[in-house]
Amino acid sequence: MNIVVGITGGIAAYKAVNVVRGLVLAGHEVHVVATEAALRFVGRPTLEAISRNPVHSELYEAVAEVRHVAIGQAAELIVVAPATANTIAKIAAGLADDLLGNSILASKAPILLAPAMHTEMWQNPATVANVATLRARGVQFVGPASGQLTGSDSGPGRMAEPDEIVAAALAVAAGGGPAGHRADLMGRRVLVTAGGTREPLDPVRFIGNRSSGKQGVAIARAAAARGAEVTLIAANLDEGVLTGLAGSIAVRHVSTTLELQEAVLLAAGTAELIVMAAAVADYRPETVAAGKIRKEAQGDSLQLRLVRNPDILHELVQGRHDGQVIVGFAAETEPDAAALLELAVAKRARKGVDYLVVNRVGWTETFGSDDNAVMVLDATGGNVAQAHGDKQSVADRILDVVA
Ligand code: C5P
Repeated sequence: MNIVVGITGGIAAYKAVNVVRGLVLAGHEVHVVATEAALRFVGRPTLEAISRNPVHSELYEAVAEVRHVAIGQAAELIVVAPATANTIAKIAAGLADDLLGNSILASKAPILLAPAMHTEMWQNPATVANVATLRARGVQFVGPASGQLTGSDSGPGRMAEPDEIVAAALAVAAGGGPAGHRADLMGRRVLVTAGGTREPLDPVRFIGNRSSGKQGVAIARAAAARGAEVTLIAANLDEGVLTGLAGSIAVRHVSTTLELQEAVLLAAGTAELIVMAAAVADYRPETVAAGKIRKEAQGDSLQLRLVRNPDILHELVQGRHDGQVIVGFAAETEPDAAALLELAVAKRARKGVDYLVVNRVGWTETFGSDDNAVMVLDATGGNVAQAHGDKQSVADRILDVVA
C-alpha cells in the first residue's frame, strides 16, 4: 500500500522515524512529506534511508510533475505523526500553504493523525473544536497518551508510541482493526469505572460488595484495543486484574463512593463515552469511628446508621454534554427472566442512560467469575443485544453496540 507519512514540527518528530520504519517493515511503500519545521527536528537523510524514498517538503519542487496534488492523489493512507496543534488547525480549516497541506487537501485517502502537544494546547477549546470537526469528517486519531511531556510537565498530549501508531495505521489501512478488533474508537476518550466501592466503618472495617472489576477492566481493554484513549477508575481492584494493561489506559485508584464520584466528575468533562461498570455503594456509614469499634463498648447488638450516597450515574446524565454516550450497569438478583427485563427497562428509564447493561448476580453468579451473561437495553428500552461467554468477549459485544 502507498502510505504518505506527514511529519510536522514537534519534538516528537524524532519518534516518527520509528513509525516510518514500522510501516516499511510491514511491507508498505512509504513516502515522507515533512514540513520545514519537522526537518529542524529530524534529518532528511535519516528519513530517506529509513523510508527508502526521497523526502518531500518543498511546494515549489518538481512543479512540472504537479507534485502538490500527485502525492495526495496517489496516497492510499495518510498518517501524520506528530500532528501539532497548528497542523490540526490547518487541516481542519483546509489550508494548503505547504506541501503537506496540499497533499492532504488533494487526497481521498483515509487520514490518521497522531497529535502531540502540551496539555494546555490539546485542551484548548480551539483544538477541541478542530479535532471534533475532523472527526466529523471521518479523520481518525491515535492518542495522544497521557504522560511525560518535553519539559518537566506531564499530562495528556504526549504522542502515542510509534508501535501504537503503526498498529493503528495498519488497522485503518485494513479498513478495520488488527486481530478482529475494529478501529471504531480510534482516538476517542473513554471513561470506564470498575470494581466495588468500600465504605469505612472504622480504620479496619468497611461495607463493600463482591464486584471483582473484571468486566469493567475487560471493557477498558477492549476500548483500548479499538484505539480509544481510556481512563479507568479502579475501585479496590486486585493487582492481578490490572496486569498487562495497554499504555493507552490511564488508571486512577479510588476506594469510597465519594472518591469515585470525584474522579469520575473530573474525567467526565472530556469523555465521549462513559461506562459505569463499578458496583457503587448506595449507602455509607453516617460517621466513621476514629478508632476500632469495640464489642466491649457495644454489647450484644450494634446499630449502624447509613446515609445515602450520591447517584453518580444520575449526576453524569444530568450534566451530559453534547454527543456524550453514557452506559450504566444493573446487577440484579431477580431470577425470573420476564421480571428481570421489566425491572431493567424501568431502571434504564429512571437513570436516563443511553444503554443499560443488565446482568444477573448472586451467591455464585458473575461476581469474581471469568464469565458473564448480559443483555443490553438501548434508550427506547429495547433489548438490543445479548452476550455470554468470557468477560473479554462480552466487553467486545457491548462495545459493538455502543461504539
Ligand atoms: O441503581 P443501581 O445501583 O442499580 O444502578 C447501577 C448503575 O448506577 C451502575 O452503572 C453504577 O455504576 C451506577 N451507580 C452510581 N452511583 C450510585 C449507585 C450506582 O453511579 N450511588
